[in-house]
Amino acid sequence: MAFMSDVAVKPPAILVIDDDAEIRYSLSRVLSSHGYQVTEAPSGEQGIALVKAGPAPDLVFLDVRMSGMSGIEALQHIRSANPKQLVVLMTAFGTAQTAIEAMKYGAFDYVMKPFDPAKVLSLAQNALKAHADLRAVGDYKPTINADDYREGIVGSSPVMQDVFKIIGQVTASDVTVMITGESGTGKELVARSIWKHSHRSGKAFIAVNCAAIPDNLIESELFGHEKGSFTGATVQRIGKFELCDGGTIFLDEIGDMALATQTKILRVLQQGEIQRVGGTETHRVDVRIIAATNKDLEAMVKAKSFREDLYYRLNVVRIKMPALRERGDDTPQIVDFCLQNLLKQRKTRVSKVSPEAMAVLVRHRWPGNVRELENVIYRSAVIAQGDAILVKDLPEEIREAVGVIAPLVATPSADPVVPAPVAVPVVPIAPAAPVLTLEAALDFVFTELAGADGPVLPQLERAMIKRALAAEAGDETKAAKRLGLTKAVLHKRSREA
Ligand SMILES: Nc1ncnc2c1ncn2[C@@H]1O[C@H](COP(=O)(O)OP(=O)(O)OP(=O)(O)O)[C@@H](O)[C@H]1O
Ligand SMILES: [Mg+2]
Repeated sequence: MAFMSDVAVKPPAILVIDDDAEIRYSLSRVLSSHGYQVTEAPSGEQGIALVKAGPAPDLVFLDVRMSGMSGIEALQHIRSANPKQLVVLMTAFGTAQTAIEAMKYGAFDYVMKPFDPAKVLSLAQNALKAHADLRAVGDYKPTINADDYREGIVGSSPVMQDVFKIIGQVTASDVTVMITGESGTGKELVARSIWKHSHRSGKAFIAVNCAAIPDNLIESELFGHEKGSFTGATVQRIGKFELCDGGTIFLDEIGDMALATQTKILRVLQQGEIQRVGGTETHRVDVRIIAATNKDLEAMVKAKSFREDLYYRLNVVRIKMPALRERGDDTPQIVDFCLQNLLKQRKTRVSKVSPEAMAVLVRHRWPGNVRELENVIYRSAVIAQGDAILVKDLPEEIREAVGVIAPLVATPSADPVVPAPVAVPVVPIAPAAPVLTLEAALDFVFTELAGADGPVLPQLERAMIKRALAAEAGDETKAAKRLGLTKAVLHKRSREA
C-alpha cells in the first residue's frame, strides 16, 4: 500500500503545542515511541510560526488554555494559513463551549487531559487515517449530473426503467393509478411526475394524507361542509376535491381510510360528483385520482377492511415501486444527486464520497429506502470534515448494519508513558492505519485468537473471508481469487461462519 511504504521512508510528523513542558514531554514520548516524528512548541505564536514556515506537520496537538495566545485563537490562525491542517485540541476543561468552538473552527477532534495514552494514540491514528483517506479520494467522478434529472427521479436500473415507462403510458389518459411500495420508495414523487406530464399539469395537484386526518374530519377535508353541518362548522368550507377541479388528487396512505369514506370516494369515481357534508346538492368535479399505500390492500379486501369495488376502481393501473435494495446500481447515482442538490442549496461543501463509504452505502439494506438514504447523506455531509464523506462520517447504525467492525482498543498498560499497542479501528474495505505495522498487527491478532475459544486458523480464515467479501462488495468469485480459495470452498466456509 502506497501510504505504508511512504511511512517506512518518512514517519508522520506531529507538532505538539503546549506551554506546559511536562505535557509536551510525556506526549512526545508516547507518540515518538510509536514511530511518529514529534516537534514541540511552547506557545501558540511559536506553533503558528512553525506551521507557516513548513513543511506543515501531518498533525498538530494544540493546548486550549495557554499563557499568551489561546488555543482556539491559534487554531484559527493555523487553519487560515493552511485550511487542510489537521489539529486535535487538548483541554483540561471539557466545557461545552470549548468543544463547540473547537469543532466550529475546524479541529478534527479534542482530547481531555489528563491523557489516556491509548486514546491519544488511537486519536492520532484515526486523524491521520482520515486525512490519508481524504487525499486518496482525489478526483471524484460523479455518476450523474443532477441537472439532467429535473424530474427528481433518479435511477437507471431495469426495475426503475419499467416504472418510467408506465409513467409515460399513463400520462396521456385520465386513468386511475395505484402506486404501492415500501415507505420512502418515491410514491409521491411518481404521482407528481404523472401529473406534471399529463394534460392536467396546468391545474392543481393536491396530496391528501389519509392516515394523518382523523376519521371524523376526513370527509369534510375531502368534500367540504356546509355552515352549521356539525359543531364547529361555523363557515362553509370547500373540500379538496372541489379545489382540485380539473387537476389531480393524490390520496396517500389510502389503506388507512375508513370504510365510510371509501364509499364516498367510490361515488366520486363512479359518478364524478361530490356532496358537501351537511349539504343536499351534488357538485360535479373533474378530478383524476392517484392513490398510494404501503399496505397489502389485497389482504385488506379479503379481511373486508377495504371495499373490493373501490379496490378494483383504483387499481386500474398499478405501479409497484421497487425497494432501493432491488435497484442494483442506482444507489451511487442517488447519492450523487443528493450531494449535488445539497451543494446547490449551500447546505454542504462536500461533493465526494470515498470508495469505501460508497461501498458501505451500496451494501446497506435501506429499510427506509430513498428517504433514509437522503437523510444519511445529509447527516454525513454535515459532519464530514473535508470535501468527501468517509466511512467514519456515516451514522454508526449504518456502519454496524453493514458489518464495519467497531474500534478494538487494547487495554493500556499500567505505565502511562509506555502504552500497550493500540489496535486501530478495522474497516474491512479501507486500508489499514498507516502507523500499525503488519508484524505488530499479526502479533496482536495471534494473541487475541490464541486466547479465544477454538483453534487459531479456522477463526482467522472466517475473519479473512468476511473481509474479502466486504472488500469485493459481496462478489464471491473475486473474494475467492483474492484469498486463494476456490469459490465453492469460500461459499461453504462463509455459510459455516
Ligand atoms: N428515484 C429517486 N431519485 C431521487 N430521489 C428520490 C427518488 N425516490 C424518492 N426520492 C426522494 O426520497 C424521498 C421520499 O420520496 P417519497 O416521499 O416520494 O416516498 P414515498 O414512497 O411517498 O414515502 P412514504 O411511504 O414514506 O410516504 C423524497 O425526498 C424524494 O424526493
Ligand atoms: Mg409518501
